[in-house]
Amino acid sequence: MSDHLAKRVAGFGTSVFTEMSRLAVQHGAVNLGQGFPDFAGPDFVKEAAIQAIRADLNQYAVSHGTPRLRQAIAENWQRATGRALDPETEVSVGSGATEVLLDAILGLVNPGDEVILFEPFYDSYLPDVLMAGGTPRFATLLPPDWHFDRQALADLFSPRTRLVLINTPHNPTGKVFSREELSFIGSLCQRHDALVLTDEVYEQIRFDGADHVPMATLPGMWERTLTVNSTGKTFSMTGWKIGYAVGPAALNQAVRATHQFVTFATSTPFQEAMATAMETAVRIGYYDRLRREYTARRDLLAGALQAAGLTTLPVQGSYFLLADLTGLGFPDDVSFCRYLTAEIGVAAIPPSAFYADAGRAPLLARFCFAKRDETLRAAAERLQRLRTLEM
Ligand SMILES: Cc1ncc(COP(=O)(O)O)c(C=O)c1O
Repeated sequence: MSDHLAKRVAGFGTSVFTEMSRLAVQHGAVNLGQGFPDFAGPDFVKEAAIQAIRADLNQYAVSHGTPRLRQAIAENWQRATGRALDPETEVSVGSGATEVLLDAILGLVNPGDEVILFEPFYDSYLPDVLMAGGTPRFATLLPPDWHFDRQALADLFSPRTRLVLINTPHNPTGKVFSREELSFIGSLCQRHDALVLTDEVYEQIRFDGADHVPMATLPGMWERTLTVNSTGKTFSMTGWKIGYAVGPAALNQAVRATHQFVTFATSTPFQEAMATAMETAVRIGYYDRLRREYTARRDLLAGALQAAGLTTLPVQGSYFLLADLTGLGFPDDVSFCRYLTAEIGVAAIPPSAFYADAGRAPLLARFCFAKRDETLRAAAERLQRLRTLEM
């Protein structure tokens, strides 16, 4: 049937997430692959959605988001950065960060424009750039601290560079870009008149005091930066698909121009519930609790992986841990993850899926710790079987 596919999507295939999830179901594996929480979402947010449905908020929302949610996002932004936003023009809502990222890229990138991606990258970025007809250029993050070669990055810029896409805190490495790194990237963008699209969906999930610096707050960067976020990660409701963009009106226009013809409007009652979530979160100390709980989960999984004989890489943010597979006798991360799922009963994701050229991926496996303690403990027990492998 693949000859029916348009050239635009013919090369996309099925993602490794789908393959590993299918394999996990087939083998009854504990699924630490795909990144979603398996614990209950906050009651106050669920209650708000129920009330919104009872109040018959059932019809199309304003295309770029309900006024109340845009206002809550603007207030959240002002609390975090000190900058007052105009929710009428500087905030847009879409169906998850995934949609908003595509909206932005389709709205900003012309065929032939170059887009710089930091590799490894979240798996939708490259297809988004290709669907827009853009030319991807890759800057590689290097383990174990995931720094980048500054000269190599500077060399990627050309008169055709339109956009640099960053993700901080970063999936799958757990890196939080430092102010200094962001300033360097920002200064290159200013010099070459390029825009920044920054994916900050894990902004609230950080460890050991790691400081999240929004690119848009650096001197001279507001006008050229569009920040994408998602309530799915922060409020453990990934299936509700409420994402948003913050930035100057001109960049929001690009998102809205696409969004109006992709989904037109995002689910009204869930937008209302997320407005309540944002209005309430700081007052009840939600974000601090979220970080404390994720720190405990991270430590539990890191301990389990280490007890199984694996070395884990440091993680500053996001809900993923990387384990080093060197010396286990596997030729690549995909064969390890298949073995782990089918034979050990724990599903993980091979980070080579986040590289344009899988050959550039170091030998690592990604484990998600957005899971209940009992899920992590069940995985820990099974991971012990890895000890029998030749190290
Ligand atoms: C870096 C990154 N960006 C975006 C998303 C998707 O966000 P949403 O569920 O809001 O579409 C994810 C989900 O895993 C992610 O890891």
